[in-house]
Amino acid sequence: MKRIGVLLCAAVLAGAARYEANGPQSEAFTQPIEGLDANHAATFRKGSGIFRQAWIIGPSQDHPDLVGLGPLYNRLSCIACHVKNGRGAAPDSENGVARTMAARLSVEGRDAHGGPRAHPHYGAQLNPEGVPGVAGEGQAVVEYAEFDETLSDGETLTLRRPKLSFRNLAYGALGPETKTSLRNAPPVFGLGLLESVSDAEILAGKGKPNFVFNIETGGKTLGRFGLKANQPNLRQQIANAFAEDIGITSSLFPSENCAAAQIECRSGASKPELADAQLDTVVTYISALAPPARRHLDDPRVVEGESLFRAIGCSDCHRDALHVADFSLQPTLDGAVIHPYTDLLLHDMGDRLADGREDFDAGARDWRTPPLWGLGLAGKGGDGANFLHDGRARTPIEAILWHGGEAQSSANAFRNLPKSQRQALLAFLNSL
Ligand code: HEC
Ligand code: HEC
Repeated sequence: MKRIGVLLCAAVLAGAARYEANGPQSEAFTQPIEGLDANHAATFRKGSGIFRQAWIIGPSQDHPDLVGLGPLYNRLSCIACHVKNGRGAAPDSENGVARTMAARLSVEGRDAHGGPRAHPHYGAQLNPEGVPGVAGEGQAVVEYAEFDETLSDGETLTLRRPKLSFRNLAYGALGPETKTSLRNAPPVFGLGLLESVSDAEILAGKGKPNFVFNIETGGKTLGRFGLKANQPNLRQQIANAFAEDIGITSSLFPSENCAAAQIECRSGASKPELADAQLDTVVTYISALAPPARRHLDDPRVVEGESLFRAIGCSDCHRDALHVADFSLQPTLDGAVIHPYTDLLLHDMGDRLADGREDFDAGARDWRTPPLWGLGLAGKGGDGANFLHDGRARTPIEAILWHGGEAQSSANAFRNLPKSQRQALLAFLNSL
């Protein structure tokens, strides 16, 4: 029996999750939801190609459809950050450069749509690379300070606190008033199922919604994607990734990501570099990526861990059941229960996790509850095993110990559990 998440009625979920415990772990996050029709299956394969391929400046006879890189960009391809469709890797251990992360930048105030006000010289995100003739903006560098934390029964763990700084800034100092937010690339599977959950079901959760600018409607709608739920749907999230991360314009983001002061950058071409059909292909690909099936469901420690997860309040935010509504890629899944372990809402996680940077209705200490499905397979396929928004946690237990704010009492309850129960809870997380 195949399952998305936990024990479910096989008839409802027939074939929804593709990866099985005995499959190659390196491909756990790259499988399509089962039962796609031939058209969608072909689009999925094409989208997978676009997600993996390196964009070029052009012109090119071999790849006329992959032209338009830059003028400023972070990486050549989507997969360079979303390694194996999972998390980004830790910063380079030699020089601390955060290569799979995006450093968001803004200044006090809001833009015309109520979002963060982009930095006047660097735009909304630091772009370390530039095409020939255009200077890359600089690098985001992370240094870690380690410290020990002791749990109630005396077990000690070493955590690392990141310190963000910038190197080789090509367009002048950022200025002391600049707000920064370092975000590691999150996994990209299961997102189509999350997009299909109704607004009403999400709004019934206990967290705070983020209402964000929706380019297609011209108004504000519920945000679900991005680490502060700062994007309303996958199409806009993905078009934004093309624009900000690779420098590829589209009908949704028609201007190059050049700030007013970046003269060479601004002189580049500006017609949409990504055709709508290409954007739709990548949207279909991401939407159809299946979450991996769970493993070790019958292990008594996993069963015990799952009930502890509920008992100490983890599932208040990491909601264990949501419903698929209106999933056009695979209509037989309509009404199915999924187990993503997120409420897709914002929570105040306390000062220690704060980035100090607002994002629409998301406050300086708020983050969207990340889905936990696939957590136990993180790092098994060459992807990063780095948790939390900036990858500071090297293990799920470190991630739990960083929880503060609204999650403080839940994290304290975890600290106070006897070791055997802590291990049961970790065994449960590892089965996801
Ligand atoms: C420089 C690294 C980098 C590159 C390159 C990159 N991303 Fe991302 N991606 C991120 C980060 C960081 C986030 C979180 C953004 C935020 O919180 O605003 C993200 C978020 C996402 C999300 C939302 C995930 C979620 O859980 O809400 C999707 C989907 C996505 N990216 C797709 C893509 C696609 C498609 C491409 C290629 C066009 C791409 N990304 C290129 C770093 C990257
Ligand atoms: C008040 C809401 C809330 C509660 C309660 C809560 N979490 Fe979280 N959890 C979050 C948010 C929000 C994040 C992301 C924080 C960040 O990135 O800085 C997170 C992150 C995580 C992560 C890292 C996931 C990743 O992909 O990086 C794990 C693991 C986790 N939580 C497990 C737990 C466990 C286990 C419990 C119970 C002891 C728990 N959480 C309780 C909201 C909550």
